[in-house]
Amino acid sequence: MTLGAVRSRLIDAARAVRLNAAAAFSGFAVGAALEAKDGRVFTGCNVENATYGLTVCAERVAVFKAISEGCREFVRVAVVADTADPTPPCGACRQILWEFGGDLEVILANLTEMKAIHALRELLPHPFDARLLGG
Ligand code: THU
Repeated sequence: MTLGAVRSRLIDAARAVRLNAAAAFSGFAVGAALEAKDGRVFTGCNVENATYGLTVCAERVAVFKAISEGCREFVRVAVVADTADPTPPCGACRQILWEFGGDLEVILANLTEMKAIHALRELLPHPFDARLLGG
């Protein structure tokens, strides 16, 4: 498969899972698809609730699903929202993506087209992570 086809497949998976978003409070549905080194794809949608603050973004749902399935090595993630401008991962998600995925390729797309590709390192420069806990 070409790299373009791999990216398209991931975007399609993010578009599909976005339809499952539990976004009754914001009305802003997001889908994410995380590709593992072994080719598996873990998807996630945002999950909101009546207390608002317990909301979990699509990206973190995808990461947590992967971790819980025993998968720890990732190469890229696609994020899809229905916006003209790309929707990048929030700060909390950048941190989790970095800690579990390292310098992932982050693909941003909407319902009709791919809008941007970033290295996670660009989105989260000077990250805090376990390397710094050693003292
Ligand atoms: N959201 C995501 O799921 N991922 C993002 O990248 C941006 C924001 C969700 C959180 C909340 O449910 C809704 O979008 C509005 O912020």
